[in-house]
Amino acid sequence: PEAFTGVVALDGPSGTGKSTVARRLATRLGARYLDTGAMYRAATVAALRAGVALDDGVAVTKVVEDAEIRISTDPEQASVRLDGDPVDAEIRSAETTAAVSAVSAVPAVRALLVDAQRELIGDGGIVVEGRDIGSVVWPTAAPKVYLTASPEARARRRAGELGADVQSVAGDIARRDGLDSTRAASPLAQAADAVELDTTELDVDQVVDRLHELTVAADR
Ligand code: DC
Repeated sequence: PEAFTGVVALDGPSGTGKSTVARRLATRLGARYLDTGAMYRAATVAALRAGVALDDGVAVTKVVEDAEIRISTDPEQASVRLDGDPVDAEIRSAETTAAVSAVSAVPAVRALLVDAQRELIGDGGIVVEGRDIGSVVWPTAAPKVYLTASPEARARRRAGELGADVQSVAGDIARRDGLDSTRAASPLAQAADAVELDTTELDVDQVVDRLHELTVAADR
């Protein structure tokens, strides 16, 4: 088969298995992979390190503007650097996770990162995961998929990944969903022309198979 040169948009809330299936799909297609959430997380680490107030949008924007965020698009080798420093563990810390909604709600921060994402997508051949890929970052992506799962399934998966308690994770997820979907700038929302894929009852292989079918159909 010809190399895949398109752009797959995979959006949806956390705990739907998005990162795992996005990476696997990219590998299967021989495509690149972009985790836009990791970029918002790296921007958040920059703000936390700088010690600026997270509700000061102007100060947060200045920090993100001056930060050098470099992200690998190799699906087999995730890596994010902030000013040359690998921050792969730090972007997943509880402190970063608690602060990322505030940073990603700043419109000027989103504008900076969306520009960087468009540059990375470039000529395509890439699977891009996030919240606003099909709606804002790359509206001509095909397919555009919106992954969902029941709140219980999402809390169970995230708790498994974090080695944390399901109840507390469920609370965190609900809080972050609320913030992500009610923010003024690019709220988490399904693009009108996205295909919704409910992963509640599916395992990873089944989701990747379905995504692969959708990609092949869109690429014809
Ligand atoms: O997918 P994730 O949990 O790593 O995303 C981290 C945060 O970044 C999440 O709170 C939503 C935000 N985000 C966003 O606003 N837009 C994106 N394209 C990706 C992530």
